[in-house]
Amino acid sequence: MSEINRETPPLNTLFQQLILEHYKSPRNRGTLPAPDVQIEMRNPSCGDEVRLQLRFEGDRVADVAFDGHGCSISQASISMMTQLLRGKSKEEAAAVAERFTRMMHGDAEVARDKSLGDLRALAGVSKFPVRVKCALLGFNALEEALKPQHGSATRQQP
Ligand code: FES
Repeated sequence: MSEINRETPPLNTLFQQLILEHYKSPRNRGTLPAPDVQIEMRNPSCGDEVRLQLRFEGDRVADVAFDGHGCSISQASISMMTQLLRGKSKEEAAAVAERFTRMMHGDAEVARDKSLGDLRALAGVSKFPVRVKCALLGFNALEEALKPQHGSATRQQP
């Protein structure tokens, strides 16, 4: 079992509430009947794992679902991420992942980017390096899912 302190880090109270709200009522949690791509991504630090499924229509994300288990940060992050994906092109979805990853590495300018929606509530996680992997778990699955060759794969976070 993980040695990571799984408590939500001491972030701004409003943001903490939003994170816990997504954790308790995750958006797009479930299984797609016929996904085009399915990625299972594991956090080697704690053993937690999420499965992300995407269905595409042409180049655009038509549907998205996730499942799995993890701490409040990982589950809230992937729930917030899935809210943004429907209707986005692969390039636009990759750009969301790229911006969020920059925010997790402390880029304050990205933290003000309204296009990240609820994900901005996680900006403070960048001050807790051990939890950054938690926040990136779903995004690492997304980056893998957007690679051209995949149907179904299991991966470990970099
Ligand atoms: Fe496992 Fe956060 S403690 S994903």
